[in-house]
Amino acid sequence: MVLIKACLMEDVPLNEMREASILGRVLLLANVDGQFYAMDGTCSHQFANLSLGSRDGFIVTCPLHGAQFDIRTGKVVKRAGPGERTNDLRAYRVVIADGCLNIDM
Ligand code: FES
Repeated sequence: MVLIKACLMEDVPLNEMREASILGRVLLLANVDGQFYAMDGTCSHQFANLSLGSRDGFIVTCPLHGAQFDIRTGKVVKRAGPGERTNDLRAYRVVIADGCLNIDM
């Protein structure tokens, strides 16, 4: 377990998402009803920035072709289209300490 500080808790306001770059990886951070989540921030279909997408509950929708991912697990909920390759993303454990979000990389 390697915890890397991502940002302050207040940098991800209630029910919002933001991008963070950690150890060369782009992550998507989300505050869902006061619980914090992190997963890869780049869509596995054609590499769109998921922080520019939308979120409904735990489901993040890619802004480009509409693939959907569960931010709790990184699992694909809906592929980009029939026959389109859309792989699961990696989800990360978030540890809160001293008012900061730390990501278990
Ligand atoms: S790039 Fe995300 S669905 Fe196509």
